[in-house]
Amino acid sequence: MSVADDLHPVLHAGRVALVTGAASGIGRAAALEFAKQGLKVAIADVAAEPLHALGVVLAKLVGEANVLVVPTDVAQIEEVVRLRDRVYEAWGEVAVLMNNAGIGNLGTSWDGIENWRKVFDVNLFGIVNVQQTFVPSMIHQENPALVINTGSKQGITNPPGNAAYNASKAAVKSLTEGLAHELRVKANCNVTAHLFIPGWTFTGLTGAGKATEKPAGAWSAEDTVLYMLDKVRAGEFYILVPDNETKRELDQLRIMWGAADIAEGRPALSRWHPNYKALYEEYIREGLAQLE
Ligand SMILES: NC(=O)c1ccc[n+]([C@@H]2O[C@H](COP(=O)([O-])OP(=O)(O)OC[C@H]3O[C@@H](n4cnc5c(N)ncnc54)[C@H](O)[C@@H]3O)[C@@H](O)[C@H]2O)c1
Repeated sequence: MSVADDLHPVLHAGRVALVTGAASGIGRAAALEFAKQGLKVAIADVAAEPLHALGVVLAKLVGEANVLVVPTDVAQIEEVVRLRDRVYEAWGEVAVLMNNAGIGNLGTSWDGIENWRKVFDVNLFGIVNVQQTFVPSMIHQENPALVINTGSKQGITNPPGNAAYNASKAAVKSLTEGLAHELRVKANCNVTAHLFIPGWTFTGLTGAGKATEKPAGAWSAEDTVLYMLDKVRAGEFYILVPDNETKRELDQLRIMWGAADIAEGRPALSRWHPNYKALYEEYIREGLAQLE
């Protein structure tokens, strides 16, 4: 996979990318890719040490003057305001705002209240804080710009196991759809929004800290980022990324099945309900045969 070297109005040398959660995984890979493409890169993360280490690598790619390292907790609005001031003072614009910081702390339906709060503070309010702080300035820029919010398939199909994470990512889907609409109907607005939905990607969140080798089913963070950038260039809103285990057709069928739970009045999460197992499996088998 590669990103074509075309004349995209936003993704090109000299413009400014800001990535939150940039110290690891997908955010780190995105920051590196933006630097390779010659964009100025601002990186933010709570993990200051790996963030500074990445800053050194980025400076080698794009020059020290074109890198800003700003340790930031996106859950704290004052830190986000400080981040905006640093970036606008340095470069006067943000062309690509990548809301990527996220955590997966476990919170089930009646357990883990503290984790629920942490997960929502980062995954949802982190994005709300950044959007509220940056988007008004981005709207006033003359150049086109884009916001990429990182959701999750778990926020769409809601698999049992981590209700807190799923609910936070469902909220990210909802708020990003709302943002896209609000930007679209605003007069003379040159900003677009995109919902980035990674597949299974080998990162800190999914065990890269412990395992040394990428599982065969997962994509690398670099592959996920390159796929995402291709779709952003193509102007897509929903950027549904496959992996080596789940191809797009299967994701499509899973999403349609979940929507049909509501439309057809089936029990919640019928995909995991024993009475619907055979029906679900048949639906997938037949659906794949038709789509392929
Ligand atoms: N890896 C996957 O398979 C996968 C799948 C779907 C969605 N995602 C999403 O992709 C995004 C990136 O995750 P990743 O897999 O690269 O994980 P990761 O753990 O490797 O990276 C996440 C980064 O976010 C940072 N972070 C956490 N809390 C923060 C805060 N309050 N302020 C600023 N930074 C903070 C962490 O320090 C870390 O560097 C997340 O939003 C995650 O939910 C990942």
